[in-house]
Amino acid sequence: MLSVLVTNAKGGAGKTTLAVTLATAFASEGHKTALADVDRQGSALGWLALRPGDRPPIAGLDWHKSAGKVQDGVERLVIDAPAGARLKHVDELQGRADLVVVPVQPSLFDERSTGDFLARLDRLKPIRKGRKAVLVVANRTKPRGRASQRLVDFLKREGFPPVASLSERAAYQELAIDGLGAFDPEGRRLVEIRRDWEPLLRAISERA
Ligand SMILES: Nc1ncnc2c1ncn2[C@@H]1O[C@H](COP(=O)(O)OP(=O)(O)OP(=O)(O)O)[C@@H](O)[C@H]1O
Ligand SMILES: [Mg+2]
Repeated sequence: MLSVLVTNAKGGAGKTTLAVTLATAFASEGHKTALADVDRQGSALGWLALRPGDRPPIAGLDWHKSAGKVQDGVERLVIDAPAGARLKHVDELQGRADLVVVPVQPSLFDERSTGDFLARLDRLKPIRKGRKAVLVVANRTKPRGRASQRLVDFLKREGFPPVASLSERAAYQELAIDGLGAFDPEGRRLVEIRRDWEPLLRAISERA
């Protein structure tokens, strides 16, 4: 099983959006996929409850009280972490993951708090020793946006150059309302969005 923790202490960075989209990517590749919701807000499980039955299945796990068991046979586990998670909690969760994905938005405030968060993550042993990868993703970027370029420069200076850049797209909200993600619908509508995800999916599959 390959397990991916999506985390950032900053609220609203895009953790749940990335977690559900990754889950749809894995499920559409034919992997037996589970989505663990650690957030007591239950956003990921709420999304799953809306998911139509004819779509590639994703099993939901309620981990908001504590991280639990994963069913036998699951090949891909995505863990959606809550905002404001204390380091001890993040340390416990990364212990259940093979790699850590951190979304960050282009804004001064998100930059600063994510910088602190990355520095704390970097002190956790398996990460410090390079055994566990941290993949940072620039989220809600705008083409040629000054803030987006600033974010990329900032992350490079921090030693975490972003592996992917996901554009700001209304489609994420529209899909979520129907319990869908960018890798569900057929047709050409989501071609550009999926292209954004290729480097991240490649980086994840290299570690599978
Ligand atoms: N690339 C994107 N384009 C457009 N909207 C986005 C994008 N990423 C996230 N959003 C929107 O931003 C809002 C916050 O995203 P999301 O809920 O995924 O963040 P979060 O980190 O899980 O928040 P929380 O800390 O509350 O758990 C949502 O309305 C989501 O639809
Ligand atoms: Mg969330």
